[in-house]
Amino acid sequence: MECGLDVIYFKPGDEVWAAIPPWKRGSLAEFVVLSGNEVSHKPKSLSHSEAAAIPYVASTAWSVLVNTGGVTKDNCARKRMLIIGASGGVGTFAIQMLKAWGAHVTVTCSQNAEGLVRGLGADHVIDYTTDDVPEQLKSLEKFDLILDNVGGATENWALDFLKPWAGAKYITLVTPFLLNTDRLGVADGMMQNGVTLGRKTLKYMCKGVHYRWGFFSPSGPSLDEISEMVDAGQVRPVVEGQFSFPQVPQAFQRLEEGHARGKTVINVVAGDEGAE
Ligand SMILES: NC(=O)c1ccc[n+]([C@@H]2O[C@H](COP(=O)([O-])OP(=O)(O)OC[C@H]3O[C@@H](n4cnc5c(N)ncnc54)[C@H](OP(=O)(O)O)[C@@H]3O)[C@@H](O)[C@H]2O)c1
Repeated sequence: MECGLDVIYFKPGDEVWAAIPPWKRGSLAEFVVLSGNEVSHKPKSLSHSEAAAIPYVASTAWSVLVNTGGVTKDNCARKRMLIIGASGGVGTFAIQMLKAWGAHVTVTCSQNAEGLVRGLGADHVIDYTTDDVPEQLKSLEKFDLILDNVGGATENWALDFLKPWAGAKYITLVTPFLLNTDRLGVADGMMQNGVTLGRKTLKYMCKGVHYRWGFFSPSGPSLDEISEMVDAGQVRPVVEGQFSFPQVPQAFQRLEEGHARGKTVINVVAGDEGAE
């Protein structure tokens, strides 16, 4: 709608997309204010509601895989990646991004998500509802990187399946970061986070693998690259359901049930559904 005086990359009327940082106001709003480096031009090939399904999960996957994991399109070919919990928002995007960059991708998900994840490019699928996942993984070659979207007990076995002393990384998105700061306050919570992360990092370093926490990070430049990947047909939005603004309570109810398959989209402005 409007641009600040120093903004040169955008002009009023441009179609843009962004993931709003958690410290700014804006989810489910008609108007938001963002910094120029948090915004990007929306892919031309997507409608607004399709495009809305991508920035948060894509920025998270990008932050975790590229910034924390050191993965790039130039070093990814034939690397062995494991995505634990691949059928949700982050997982469905991460599969596509890693496949576009030439990696070999193994995933865990429920049986009824196998068609979805294979359709997105997953090479090997383990059904966590019927298979003993660690037992299945024992028969496979070890991994260069594990992205854990599930957390909890997975940490107890997942790092055993990384290639030791080869720079391999385990990155979990499910961290006690907010829990600790909520429970202990910012100062003590941050200290607790530092202690927990430091202890685990050291423990696994002794075993020759890297343990990391991953976080969403807003980034316009990353979205620029993702926009190009979308328009090149390398990645697509996975939209499980769309809701109108008055249906927000039902949309959240649906999210609370879990078992997401990609993303749920809310069309804040009526009529956006098919808008190009
Ligand atoms: N740290 C950060 O900044 C950050 C950013 C984004 C997300 N997150 C966290 O990262 C996690 C993943 O995010 P998301 O958006 O992808 O979540 P999501 O859309 O809710 O997807 C989670 C997926 O995992 C599947 N699942 C549940 N239990 C599983 C198991 N034991 N093994 C394999 N798959 C399992 C679920 O389907 P079924 O239950 O049907 O199997 C669902 O498809 C969430 O916990 C989220 O809170 C953290």
